[in-house]
Amino acid sequence: MPRSIIAGIGMYVPKNVYTNKDLMQYMDTSDEWIVERTGIRERRFADRKGETTATMGIEAAKVAIERAGITPQDIDFIIFATLSPDYYFPGCGVLVQRALQMKEIGALDVRNQCSGFVYALSVGDQYIRTGTYKNILVIGSEKHSFGLDFSTRGRNVSVIFGDGAAAVVLQPTEDPNRGLLSTHLHSDGNDAEILAMFNPGTHANYWKEGLADFDEAPVGQMFMSHSMVEKAQLFPNMDGQAVFKKAVVKFPEVIMEALRTNNYQPSDLKLLVPHQANLRISQFVQHTLKLRDDQVYNNIQRYGNTTAASVPIALCEAWQEGKIQPGDLVCLAAFGSGFTWASALFKW
Ligand code: UT7
Repeated sequence: MPRSIIAGIGMYVPKNVYTNKDLMQYMDTSDEWIVERTGIRERRFADRKGETTATMGIEAAKVAIERAGITPQDIDFIIFATLSPDYYFPGCGVLVQRALQMKEIGALDVRNQCSGFVYALSVGDQYIRTGTYKNILVIGSEKHSFGLDFSTRGRNVSVIFGDGAAAVVLQPTEDPNRGLLSTHLHSDGNDAEILAMFNPGTHANYWKEGLADFDEAPVGQMFMSHSMVEKAQLFPNMDGQAVFKKAVVKFPEVIMEALRTNNYQPSDLKLLVPHQANLRISQFVQHTLKLRDDQVYNNIQRYGNTTAASVPIALCEAWQEGKIQPGDLVCLAAFGSGFTWASALFKW
């Protein structure tokens, strides 16, 4: 059975850099607080008019396709992971298919937030292993800057996130010393509301009384209401400490699951590329697994948390910096809203 290799990888981040100091013009925060609690020093925000989740994903995809030595017409399947799609529907996958003038191939959208890219990779890997497709484009992209509360009320969430995209091309290999060894996916929906954006949605009828103003909205128009806007209910909610506590347990668990499944131990890892949620989380995971600094890649300092794009952006930078060579053991791991978490172990 063939394994998947990453034949090409590319990334795209917007030019606009927003430092922590820049955010202070919108909210009561400080560089010290953000650096100390998250490690983030700056993030990129997409151009308000021209750049979208899809356009950033398309730019990253162009680089990945070129580096794979193929053309967009060679791609036979698209998987697009994001929580900030251009449209509520359709998803971004078809926008990539159109923009790159691809054949009438399948386009799948994945909604798994921070673990979206690793989930997407896992789906692509199944098609490669079964011989269904030969060139799969997997994209992670986010435009968070359009949907965050930049007032002091939303500061616990808005200082963390940034925009950006990255993409890979998966191809089959028969080389026994290379490829994606295994993927491991998990979820626990008991805490689905701890990190969530409730609106627009269809939940209010059955979930939490009072979240939507039923008296105000006529039948058929409860999906969005004026009070949702007035009460700032169109922004993400997060209990940061609860997310943190779960993340520092589940990250090491799912990384160890990947290593044990393939008879490796942490010391065998050339590089761990964790989802860039918070530098303190990555440091905690590093400490738990007794990894050296050079075994863990972090770039949250420059990009913040780019959710579905964070793992492939970090992977792309690590590869560009020469930190990953053919045959190296590389682990990708992610944890986020849902909760969902996942890992993928490669022989690069
Ligand atoms: O991608 C996966 C999803 N997300 C995560 O993995 C996030 C995981 N959690 C975290 O990264 C951290 O919990 C945060 C960075 C979000 C928050 O750090 P914390 O150390 O857990 O802070 P906290 O929420 O307990 O808040 C401490 C204080 C509060 O003030 P009081 O009540 O102690 O007076 C907050 O109001 O810090 C205040 N605060 C801020 N102060 C300045 C919250 N946000 C800010 C801010 N600037 N941006």
